[in-house]
Amino acid sequence: MLRAAITGTGFWVPSRVVTNDDLAARIDTSDAWITERSGIRERRWLTRDAEGNTEITGAEMGAHAAREAIAAAGIAPGDVEQVIYATLNPDVFFPGNGVFLEHLLGLGTAGAMDIRNQCTGFVYGLAAADGFIRSGLARTVLVVGGEIQSTALDLTDRGRDVAVLFGDGAGAAVVQAREGNRGILASVLHSQGRYARELFAEAPVATATGRITPAMIAEGRHFPYMNGKLVFQHATRRFAEAIAEVLRKGGVTPDDVALFIPHQANQRITDAVTARLGVQPERVFSNIARYGNTTAASIPIALAEAVREGRLASGDLVVTVAFGSGFTWGANLIRW
Ligand code: UT7
Repeated sequence: MLRAAITGTGFWVPSRVVTNDDLAARIDTSDAWITERSGIRERRWLTRDAEGNTEITGAEMGAHAAREAIAAAGIAPGDVEQVIYATLNPDVFFPGNGVFLEHLLGLGTAGAMDIRNQCTGFVYGLAAADGFIRSGLARTVLVVGGEIQSTALDLTDRGRDVAVLFGDGAGAAVVQAREGNRGILASVLHSQGRYARELFAEAPVATATGRITPAMIAEGRHFPYMNGKLVFQHATRRFAEAIAEVLRKGGVTPDDVALFIPHQANQRITDAVTARLGVQPERVFSNIARYGNTTAASIPIALAEAVREGRLASGDLVVTVAFGSGFTWGANLIRW
């Protein structure tokens, strides 16, 4: 049977480490509050020059991660036929980051598309890659998740509930057509737009002349807004549902899964889901303490780290699962 198999992974994070104490020096927060509520101890943020411009672009971060994934897969950049770039923060309003990545990597005229599904973007991206491959549209797909969060955070006391959670980074996976049992076995994707404004960044908006006004900036409407408690409640429920659904679809049980790779939203969410599943915590990947929430980048970074740490053996079952703004949620079941 033709399947979409992950044949290479890679990731890149900025070298600048921002600790909870660094944030507490700027805003009214503390290492104890952040650690207890989220499990985050530090995150990586891009450095900025005197004008406030980041050291590199989001697409350049994605390119660093993608080059590692392409090398790990043992292919040449020219073998990539389709780019799927998941980000909620494209470098410019349009076009998306996929085309910038295509140019940076010199992929010829490979297809490129962006997925704007926030924390769930990479899960949607893997499902899309699976569809591209099994339909015969492409044999080699590069799926990237990358985010620059640090330039969009309100680093005043007003924004402290959101600002302490997010980090920058990028991860990538090469997905290729393979005959056999290895690859993406099942995916489930969901959304519920009635909650779109419970976790969103409103401005710039296409529906207002000028798109962003001084009033919007003064009110902080260009910063992310999150109804944290509501997001938390929905996340714990939907993570568990998505895992159960994708396992059912694949005809396997939680005990069959070697490693769960949840989107790194909050260690308390991960712990709640682990308890609901009834699996040992060692089978649930976590790196949120070091990177915070990198939205679309969190699963591909975690996947690449799991590979580097030798936590995945050929034939292992892996589940990737995410929930985020939209609301959107979903999961992939993969045989490694
Ligand atoms: O990637 C998917 C999207 N995001 C998530 O999944 C995140 C989901 N939500 C959460 O993880 C949690 O709701 C948070 C970590 C964001 C917040 O935890 P919480 O336990 O829900 O805290 P809270 O919002 O109820 O705030 C508790 C208190 C409040 O003070 P009062 O009203 O009790 O006096 C906040 O003002 O903590 C205060 N607070 C802070 N204190 C210190 C809020 N942010 C901070 C902060 N430092 N950074």
